[in-house]
Amino acid sequence: MNYEIIDCIDAGTKFCPCHLAESNECILCSQLQGESFCDCKNWKGTCIFQELNWNNNKATTERENYVAVIVKKNLIAKGLIKFVIKISHELCKQLIKPGSYIFMRCLKTSPYFDVPISVMECDLEKDTVSVIIEIEGIKTKKINDLNEKDSLVVRGPFWNGVLGLKNINRCVDKNVLLIARGIGQAPVIPVLKKLHNLNNNIQLVLDKGKYKDSFIQDYLKKYPCNVIEINTMDEGKMSSDLVTLLKDSIENRSIEHVHCSGPDVLIQEVIREINSRTTTSCCNNAKMCCGQGICGACTTRFEGHVVKRLCKLQTDPEYIFEGRRLI
Ligand code: FES
Repeated sequence: MNYEIIDCIDAGTKFCPCHLAESNECILCSQLQGESFCDCKNWKGTCIFQELNWNNNKATTERENYVAVIVKKNLIAKGLIKFVIKISHELCKQLIKPGSYIFMRCLKTSPYFDVPISVMECDLEKDTVSVIIEIEGIKTKKINDLNEKDSLVVRGPFWNGVLGLKNINRCVDKNVLLIARGIGQAPVIPVLKKLHNLNNNIQLVLDKGKYKDSFIQDYLKKYPCNVIEINTMDEGKMSSDLVTLLKDSIENRSIEHVHCSGPDVLIQEVIREINSRTTTSCCNNAKMCCGQGICGACTTRFEGHVVKRLCKLQTDPEYIFEGRRLI
């Protein structure tokens, strides 16, 4: 029988216990949900209840703001910019895993302008991160006003940009399939790197989306994989080409894991098509504002009055769409 195994991305880190624990809303600890018994949903090596007690029943440290400098700014396509940003070595080290992201804004703007951006690559020798930004709204337009050598505010590290992380970490010496569409090419790079380092045989379905060219060609040389260029969506639905490819990959090519980095509508259809025949992971498309379980921007509602905070919750992608309510 399938059942949801959940985890909190921050449990066991220096950011736990957080404000959720302080307010009896902890994702994992039953006692910090108002119960009188101990029935923690996932053990990360520390007792969150005890940690909160030791910290005088107060939340521990929040993510800090850092001043960073833009080292490089490249226009990749109309409305698509690559930034290379110099940050501290300490922060850089913490942004290396798949799913890492930061909040960015100009020095002159208020924290309301914080925009969450996936980390595409970390360079630990130069202490830089590379990010790709789609210039879409007022927050990203302000960032686009910045140029090389300008300073900006970076808040981090955050890690929940990918759901199903445990499935990625368990892929060793396997046949895996990655699907990346449009801006989803950027967050797929740390996943590709991780799976490459774990000696997996990787097929990458690459869909440029609305852009004329792919912007990850250099990374594909660094982490070689079998690239298949097709349209993954057709009139708002998964394309028949991708349906055929998925069927063939699972039935004839022994694919054991599928990662999808694209819009929710594509992820949902890919999961439906796979129908639990492989493990899955996907990018986390929830709208993030605080990133730390406070503001409620990322909350999604499910049957049975279940509320999931997607900035904190780690779960398999299946459980992000199953039983989801629109009200
Ligand atoms: S982004 Fe604020 S609660 Fe999740």
